[in-house]
Amino acid sequence: MTFGKTGFIGCGSMGGALARAAAKRADANDFMYSSASGEKARALAAELGGQAASNAEIAEKCGLIFLGVKPKYLRGVLAGIAPVLQNRGGGFVLVSMAAGVTIASVVEMVGKPVPVIRIMPNTPALVGCGMTQYAQEGVTPEQEEAFLELMSASGELDPLPESLIDAASAVSGCGPAFFCLALEGLADGGVAAGLPRDKALRYAAKTLEGIGRLALETGSHPGQLKDSVTSPGGSTIQGVRMLERAGVRSAFFEAAVSAYEKNLDLGKKA
Ligand SMILES: NC(=O)c1ccc[n+]([C@@H]2O[C@H](COP(=O)([O-])OP(=O)(O)OC[C@H]3O[C@@H](n4cnc5c(N)ncnc54)[C@H](OP(=O)(O)O)[C@@H]3O)[C@@H](O)[C@H]2O)c1
Repeated sequence: MTFGKTGFIGCGSMGGALARAAAKRADANDFMYSSASGEKARALAAELGGQAASNAEIAEKCGLIFLGVKPKYLRGVLAGIAPVLQNRGGGFVLVSMAAGVTIASVVEMVGKPVPVIRIMPNTPALVGCGMTQYAQEGVTPEQEEAFLELMSASGELDPLPESLIDAASAVSGCGPAFFCLALEGLADGGVAAGLPRDKALRYAAKTLEGIGRLALETGSHPGQLKDSVTSPGGSTIQGVRMLERAGVRSAFFEAAVSAYEKNLDLGKKA
């Protein structure tokens, strides 16, 4: 099956990344986009094909509707399109990416049981290396399969019980920002040691990409991978000593837990 037209309500970092990924699997001339000012919607239409539209037009015409607005705006956006959605006999699926917001809340905001896929994507989706968890309710196996096919160019998709989506969000949804701090710090160190900035950044980013792939492909525990590059009396173990002294491991641990707690809070406020 196909969804016919696909709509993107909200075309910022995440909505835009998913639209660009979807355009690799479907004809973007069938895409419709909206944003608060209309500017990002028009820019995406010019870049990928398809047309900028209003939220109501998307709600009326699209078979798959991505909701890419910030959690605090979701209730207002859904209130605006609820009458249109309620009048439709079916044949559409909503995709919410709002951190913390449950499928039950989305259904309550629409005011009628509608099929919803809740996703937790991350920005590497833009380069086909994303990690997206999803849970769904009321979606047929054919619709789920078509959704997975459309999203396949974004990277990996993993079905997860909805009760764990907020936890996953704290790791892979927020993780890109956490690792960017590590990237910037490592590259700064390289610059301090004399490397040109562009080379330092590239070396740090390739190292992050490489160690991620090594962990995935070998299935090795991170401790084992670390031990394999820290020779006795060597330089790497001295760097590890400084990172441990600075509490890096605990800082990442706490970052994930505070992001999780914030997700729960966002859900309550939505
Ligand atoms: N960024 C991430 O890494 C990430 C990861 C996982 C999940 N998410 C989720 O993705 C969602 C979007 O986050 P983001 O970072 O992409 O935000 P963003 O960059 O601020 O984009 C939000 C978009 O929503 C549009 N918008 C706001 N009000 C609207 C309205 N009434 N009607 C139509 N469009 C409206 C904005 O329009 P303008 O362009 O005119 O401002 C903008 O295009 C959030 O729910 C967030 O929890 C984000």
